[in-house]
Amino acid sequence: MVTAMKKREDVESLDLFSMTDKGNGTQRRERTLEKGISFSSKKKYRSITQKIITGIDIGTSKIGAIIAEVDDTNDVKIVGVGVSPSDGLRRGVVVNLEKTVQSIKRAVDEAQLMAGIEAGPVYVGIAGDHIHSFNSRGVVAVSGPDHEIKMTDIRRVMDAARAVSLPIDREILHVIPQEFIVDDQDNIKEPVGFSGVRLEAEVHIVTGAVTSAQNIYRCVERAGLKVRHLVLEPLASSYAVLGEDEKEIGVGLIDLGGGTTDIALFFEGSIRHTAVIGLGGRNITNDIAQGLRTPVDQAEKIKRKFGAALSKSADQNQLIEVQGVGGRAATNVPRRYLTSIIQPRVEEILTLAKREIQRSDYRDFLNAGIVLTGGGSMLGGIIELAEQIFDMPVKGGIPQGFAGLVGLARTPIHSTGVGLIYYAMHHGSDEFVTIEDESGNDEVRFFNKYFNMVKRWVMEYL
Ligand SMILES: Nc1ncnc2c1ncn2[C@@H]1O[C@H](COP(=O)(O)OP(=O)(O)OP(=O)(O)O)[C@@H](O)[C@H]1O
Ligand SMILES: [Mg+2]
Repeated sequence: MVTAMKKREDVESLDLFSMTDKGNGTQRRERTLEKGISFSSKKKYRSITQKIITGIDIGTSKIGAIIAEVDDTNDVKIVGVGVSPSDGLRRGVVVNLEKTVQSIKRAVDEAQLMAGIEAGPVYVGIAGDHIHSFNSRGVVAVSGPDHEIKMTDIRRVMDAARAVSLPIDREILHVIPQEFIVDDQDNIKEPVGFSGVRLEAEVHIVTGAVTSAQNIYRCVERAGLKVRHLVLEPLASSYAVLGEDEKEIGVGLIDLGGGTTDIALFFEGSIRHTAVIGLGGRNITNDIAQGLRTPVDQAEKIKRKFGAALSKSADQNQLIEVQGVGGRAATNVPRRYLTSIIQPRVEEILTLAKREIQRSDYRDFLNAGIVLTGGGSMLGGIIELAEQIFDMPVKGGIPQGFAGLVGLARTPIHSTGVGLIYYAMHHGSDEFVTIEDESGNDEVRFFNKYFNMVKRWVMEYL
């Protein structure tokens, strides 16, 4: 079992190699930090080896930074959550570098302060309607006289699968293995150790516009952080809100954010289709601002407090006070008028998502239905409306499976941020920090966090 899990890690981490090849110096940092482990292993202390993982969700509405400690048994404790409003993005794409850099800094500073540790290299979410994805296949002859499949064969077949011609302005963000086929035996998840002559890989390839990816890199690095990996946002979110059992029997994830609605479909444990639609909660807010002739910030407040996607889910005759624009007097409007503005836009977004699902050919394989997450999933009545539109069961998705700052992080707004932590656990080897804890007492741990933070700075510059 342990060997099987190790093999799976090896296979999945191929996905990571494609981005760490960028030569941004993170490998050196990892090695120096590993040196730090032996430096700190003194006998009189009980040593706790912890991974510090940081995820940054660069959303259209907010930038969220999550810092987590992961221990030897893979228990996740979220120790820092920082949120900063984001106004440098449009439909998931950076349009104002400086504003985005400042928002990232604010979110990360807040998370670091809360955690009492430095963020370290970060996993960053990427979305936007420039994202395209497709399935591909590679075939190689198994090398070696004994025909036993080794990691080198996996690398070669993955390289063959990713050898697709792309326009010069697009780059590959992920090559995610779906299944391997050894001779005539299909649906193999971990082929290392199998015997065969011919090895095939079916993969899901996610591509993005080179400039959009570069701008995200640039913003994060200008904020003083090192990017370890860019991760497709719905892929990250899926780690936080979907169960393995759902992915096995087939499930669709829809992350309704501020500027984009992200889709990821899973079947037989693997990702099958991803798409990003350039519409989200911000469009609903703008419709309300225009329809009720009120400033956008007021429209946002009204949406959160009184908004509903279905007329039956609200007291429709209740009067809502609406501030006027440009100093005009406030008016009272019945709640049904607000619902009549919201409902068509939500229907439009969900219908586009449904079309995308139908286009994927996986519509009939989503036996666990749809999981709706992201801030937009908190709109009253949206689950019921989605069930009508998709004609299948729909549930709300909230990030699960961690301890620590549960009250702050367990919200659909942080599905991507928390998902980035889980993604990193599955795909990367992050820095380990050994906390020397004599007593298990929180004060000692707090002091040691600072001690380790300073020690890491020193080690980095040795
Ligand atoms: N209680 C609520 N009711 C309705 N909508 C809400 C509520 N809370 C938040 N939202 C909406 O959720 C959206 C923000 O969600 P989220 O934080 O997931 O987006 P984001 O990650 O910043 O954006 P994106 O993923 O599109 O880049 C906003 O449009 C906001 O209005
Ligand atoms: Mg988002």
